[in-house]
Amino acid sequence: MEIIQEHDVLIVGGGAAGLRAAIAAAEKNPRLSIAIISKVYPTRSHTVSAEGGIAAALDKGDTIRSHAKDTIKGSDYLADQDAVEFFVKRAKEEVLLLEQWGCPWSRKEDGDIAVRAFGGMSKKRTVFAADKTGFFMLHNLFERTLAHDNIHRYDEWFVTKLLTDSKGATGVVAIDQKEGEMVALAAKAVIMCTGGAGKMYLNTTNGAIKTGDGMALAYNEGALLKDMEFMQFHPTALPKTGILITEAARGEGGYLYNAKGERFLERYVPHKMELGPRDLISRAINTEYKEGRGFKGPYGNYVHLDIRHLGEKKINEKLPQIRELAKDFMNVDPVYKPIPVTPTQHYTMGGIHTNIKGETNIPGLYSAGEAACVSINGANRLGSNSLAECLVFGAEAGTAAANYCRRIKLRNPSRKKLSDEKKRIESVLTNKGKESPYKIREDMQKVMDQYAGIVRTEKELSKGIIKIRELQKRFKKIGLSQSNMVFNSQLINTLELEAMLTLAETLLISAKARKESRGAHFRSDYPERNDEKFLHHITISKGPRTPKVTHVPVPITKWQPEVRSY
Ligand code: FUM
Repeated sequence: MEIIQEHDVLIVGGGAAGLRAAIAAAEKNPRLSIAIISKVYPTRSHTVSAEGGIAAALDKGDTIRSHAKDTIKGSDYLADQDAVEFFVKRAKEEVLLLEQWGCPWSRKEDGDIAVRAFGGMSKKRTVFAADKTGFFMLHNLFERTLAHDNIHRYDEWFVTKLLTDSKGATGVVAIDQKEGEMVALAAKAVIMCTGGAGKMYLNTTNGAIKTGDGMALAYNEGALLKDMEFMQFHPTALPKTGILITEAARGEGGYLYNAKGERFLERYVPHKMELGPRDLISRAINTEYKEGRGFKGPYGNYVHLDIRHLGEKKINEKLPQIRELAKDFMNVDPVYKPIPVTPTQHYTMGGIHTNIKGETNIPGLYSAGEAACVSINGANRLGSNSLAECLVFGAEAGTAAANYCRRIKLRNPSRKKLSDEKKRIESVLTNKGKESPYKIREDMQKVMDQYAGIVRTEKELSKGIIKIRELQKRFKKIGLSQSNMVFNSQLINTLELEAMLTLAETLLISAKARKESRGAHFRSDYPERNDEKFLHHITISKGPRTPKVTHVPVPITKWQPEVRSY
């Protein structure tokens, strides 16, 4: 296998975090050679589907302190408070920077940047571009990368291995899907910006590409993963398809009703109602189902999201996309009828353990965005913080990687590692086993929905671990029907599945180790939060036979943990 190029900074993933990292590195040092390698064309990255907005304390009367406090309370006190304080300050700067770059934020009558309400936030602070915020941001960032001659791109290349030596990261091995070739790229620094791993669940708002590749690549080389037990379920997605119906629908004034016609959130989050945090609302809906107050549909239970009272003009102006989605996928026009919605996996709060600069425990390996865990989200992310997180920590990682490149020399990846990796991929391609990767994927998704959902128990998590390990064994017996490497989606899907099976195990083990309830991790056998024993992050790394669980502390700066009520 050839080492086809050498770069200073190599960014894996072309979503908001990856593009922002590239721009920051290019600005830091225009002489650096920077590359973005992405399994899809960058503007097809999952950022494009972000709808409701990006949090920043911009409005008159709002403060970064209040944004920090809300984020920390929202996280059920598991967020790193030093990281949150840094984040809220930088989030404002990043939103204004994108405005200068031409991002078309929605406006108030007086021309100021508009803000809307979002769950768990005590002020209106979610900046938006109608309900297509991610689309506009991603295109804006992409255009900005084009202004830098030193940013190179490898579009539709799939990374199969992170290369490391005893001193740290040295590059990646990838499949150039168009040419059907395996190649290596050498780099001084690698930044993983590959997004979350929601596709390990069947019911998810995540697009097909969100398979946690970067987390697994880093883990396989010894990186720590952190907070893997915390999976976010968004309260309002369309049943069956999992298409997101943005929280902005409630931010703009929408109501949730059960099958008895009750605004049931009165029983759970009486002071915030539809603007409660996602963990509590998703769990509330789940309780309504269990107690028989959900609507019954062909795809399971659901509740109603009613925005009719907002009127057609406001819906068209502020929520045009969800009107389209509800009409196209549910045959429901929300101007006239309530939308059926149900809680659905949405966001991976865990990820590659990093500090504020995006540094991991492997020198030269950085991470940002949903692939990373800084952690500013702790046990429950507040909606609209993630787009800001991509910008703030994407920029930090890009800058830190650029600085790192000044201090080190490029090291060539080991030839042996390259040829071993080539053999590994060839054996996946030529294996003649009877197992189908698609059947294993479906079985994995059902296991995760059933055993690692909104409510968990020791018994179910243990069963889940056994079942995922059985699937890992079955994975060794897969057989593919296509052996050509050119755009072989079967091969890519198989490698994605391998990554998800690895991550599913880390999630279940971390969830079993956390014998308390906190944020999105609700254990019915340990229904209370236990700060005495569990006010720490669970970290997990690859062990000789099974994953190894360790802990890291949660920095507390100003906000002592309190009872969390809304
Ligand atoms: O509901 C939404 O628009 C989602 C936003 C987010 O996850 O930050």
